Amino acid sequence: MTLPQPTPGPLPVDRPRRLRRSAAMRSLVREHTLRPADLVLPMFVREGATEARPITSMPGVSQHSMDSLVRAAVEAVENGVGGLMLFGVPEHKDAVGSGATDPDGILNRALARLRGELGDATVVMADLCLDEFTDHGHCGVLDSDGVVDNDATLLRYREMALAQAEAGAHLLGPSGMMDGQIAAIRDALDGAGHLDVALYAYTAKYASAFFGPFREAVDSSLTGDRRSYQQDPANGREALRELALDVDEGADLVMVKPGLPYLDVLRDLAAASPVPVGAYQVSGEYAMIEAAAANGWVDRQRTVLESLLAFRRAGASTVLTYHASEVAGWFRAGLPEQLAEFR
Ligand code: PBG
Repeated sequence: MTLPQPTPGPLPVDRPRRLRRSAAMRSLVREHTLRPADLVLPMFVREGATEARPITSMPGVSQHSMDSLVRAAVEAVENGVGGLMLFGVPEHKDAVGSGATDPDGILNRALARLRGELGDATVVMADLCLDEFTDHGHCGVLDSDGVVDNDATLLRYREMALAQAEAGAHLLGPSGMMDGQIAAIRDALDGAGHLDVALYAYTAKYASAFFGPFREAVDSSLTGDRRSYQQDPANGREALRELALDVDEGADLVMVKPGLPYLDVLRDLAAASPVPVGAYQVSGEYAMIEAAAANGWVDRQRTVLESLLAFRRAGASTVLTYHASEVAGWFRAGLPEQLAEFR
């Protein structure tokens, strides 16, 4: 077999490869970068735990005890992460999620402890949702037909926001996808003088299978699904409607969740939003990378970095990821030359 012979002289084609020839040239034209300060570490704290308990479906992630939480949080901040997003796993659950509003509830105690240890050295964030605290596992309270009651839930969110603000959270992340939740929470905070507590709205949150491992992470008791309040994976347009509402209601930042399967939605929101846009690389995304890496099917470090850089390229200012502390540690130690594209 003979190769096709080129015509004499160079082909008259454009040559983008010129910009890829050397590390220096690639560095010069690189558009996006990852910084540890862009990364937010979600953390779980379990009531009554005396030591960290590994979460099987999320290798490397644990339900923390209060003490192991503080140690891991301090390490993450020393590594340079931009913030911590806290989830509580209570010992007792009930129909209205009482543990969420109790100042002695696990999440509020952990917020106070972290804020006490870390002060303003990082941004302490709290997931604002009832699902970890309800015995039915839904994000709100139920009406007599067993359907999540939007407006009754807002009353609980108002109380929960006050408890979290009083515990010292800098930023609250309402993740329940109730209509009007940002307005209700902003009103409650302002009314109590918490004018500086910011809201990071889970604006476009999809009813996603990628939340699977999170169920184990928070000992969820959910039996049904969340399709009556979270978005349909088939829809992109309604994310823009949710964005307009959340911004109008007072969101300071907005988020798309899950992350990689919804980069198109992230891109659309980033183009339209007047406030910073973030992405949440969720439990199932984390688990997939870890499982493939554990099998030797992908290069773990490169895959983690590439997936996070993708969020930045799509327009995210911040990225919530369970890899946050580890990745920040890699940057702190200095990324090797072979990973130059991520520096
Ligand atoms: C609700 C909440 C969930 C996640 C974050 N906040 C669960 C859900 O909506 O079903 C999922 C996070 C993840 O999967 O990593 N409190």
